[in-house]
Amino acid sequence: MSCRWQNEIEESRSTLRLTRREFAHSALATGIAAALPASLFSGCTVSNAARTANSAPSVSSAAQFDSSSNIAFPKDFFWGAATAAYQIEGAWNEDGKSESIWDRFAHTPGKIKNGDTGDVACDSYHRFSEDLALLRGMNLNSYRFSISWPRVQSTGSGPANFKGIDYYSRVVDALLEARIRPFVTLYHWDLPQALEDAGGWPARDTASRFGDYVELVARALGDRVSDWMLFNEPLAFTYRGYLEGSYAPGRQSLLDFLRASHTVNRAQSAGFRALKATRPSARVGTAFSMSPCEPATGSEEDLLAAERAHAVTNLWFLEPALKGRYPEALVFTSETAMGIKSGDLDRMRAPLDFIGINLYYRTIASAPGTIERISHAQQWLFPVKMTGGQQGPKTDNGWEVWPQALYDMVMRITRDFNRPQIEITENGCAYNDGPDAGGVIRDTRRIEYHRQYLQALARAIADGADVRGYHAWTLLDNLEWAEGFSQRFGLSYVDFKTQQRTLKESGKWYAKVAAQNRVGPGGSSP
Ligand code: FCB
Repeated sequence: MSCRWQNEIEESRSTLRLTRREFAHSALATGIAAALPASLFSGCTVSNAARTANSAPSVSSAAQFDSSSNIAFPKDFFWGAATAAYQIEGAWNEDGKSESIWDRFAHTPGKIKNGDTGDVACDSYHRFSEDLALLRGMNLNSYRFSISWPRVQSTGSGPANFKGIDYYSRVVDALLEARIRPFVTLYHWDLPQALEDAGGWPARDTASRFGDYVELVARALGDRVSDWMLFNEPLAFTYRGYLEGSYAPGRQSLLDFLRASHTVNRAQSAGFRALKATRPSARVGTAFSMSPCEPATGSEEDLLAAERAHAVTNLWFLEPALKGRYPEALVFTSETAMGIKSGDLDRMRAPLDFIGINLYYRTIASAPGTIERISHAQQWLFPVKMTGGQQGPKTDNGWEVWPQALYDMVMRITRDFNRPQIEITENGCAYNDGPDAGGVIRDTRRIEYHRQYLQALARAIADGADVRGYHAWTLLDNLEWAEGFSQRFGLSYVDFKTQQRTLKESGKWYAKVAAQNRVGPGGSSP
């Protein structure tokens, strides 16, 4: 592994055409940790709490917010649940749908835990009416779902596949009929395999293909859908798909990651322009993976590392859109390596109407030591080491429960981007509770998780953040990417043998929160 990275360094060094001084500077800089934690994908703020994070005694995450009273949310607040096409739809090769990179990846032995695939998943393609009943049963007024690109445009270019369009059209109509806002993600990671074969996200042309695809969908659904996300978690799919290799398409190349980043940033503005040209009143954003980045100690090095972590984790796809530049906290941005051409930076601008935040946990950042610096190639480029927090309780997949993270992240974005509109596009937890003898799923830990994060969110709103909605991840237990069906994040339990859906106790609790537009202290209150 480290050998591969060393080769990458050499290759990248020559391609990047670094001067000796630049290389010495970058190599001396601190870098990203070896086993990058999941935290890279999801934010970085320097709060007082953060400064003492690792030295403070363990605290209960429940103690972070006043949980003794009922807290009301703004009028017209959107209460929602989120899903993604590949994780729930199944029907992977029906009605003209072509192969996606996730189909190819899942069908390659050893890529997904237990050999699981999304071939059937939750079979939502055939059971959307059951899913709609769950949304209605929870009194939700927003449903975030994604369009599968290879379902609506088989080869990633050319004409629409009308059967695929028809499916989403029916979903949108049914949601509107139920007075639920269709909140549509245009890309949640399932690139048509044909486009990967033509070079994938590292290829410049993929940005134009994405723009054309967005126009096609906007023409088909934009008369009824007004709220859109261009991308879901651009950092997660570029980093994990092209550098780490743990996600489709499974490539492991620093250069591919850098190029994919730049294409996606160009695609973000191409998609934005296409949507606005087709539907001028559309409200357009992206769902970014975010996590507040706290310094491990109060040292100057760790404070700097936390700001760099913030730049990589939270700004790599946001600053290009809003400011037409890459964040400065990276050691350098090589135009050659990233494939940046004259005029690109200006053209990357996309004045997003809202910022979507997907948030699960916080990140602790520190400056790596000398050995780490020399043994990991990305370190000269992303000079920071990141881990998850260790003070709060953990979910069943090992993520720290830390509600303050949501408050910190929302407030930092509010401060740094002049109080933008924010949508919480994902927040949730993996707890694998199943039905008891009576068939009831008593997932009380999930109720507490959402309650505490919502209390944190309510405080951010009270402190001035303009938050329009909250989407629990997720409506249904589903295929959790490379983890297969081993992690259950749903408000509804799915028996994958029968496809029977059962609302968990958390789903019933969330129904009360949505109906009353407030979150309470516990007990019998929502
Ligand atoms: C996010 C993804 C979403 C889901 C959750 C648990 O990173 O956007 O699809 O897998 O994590």
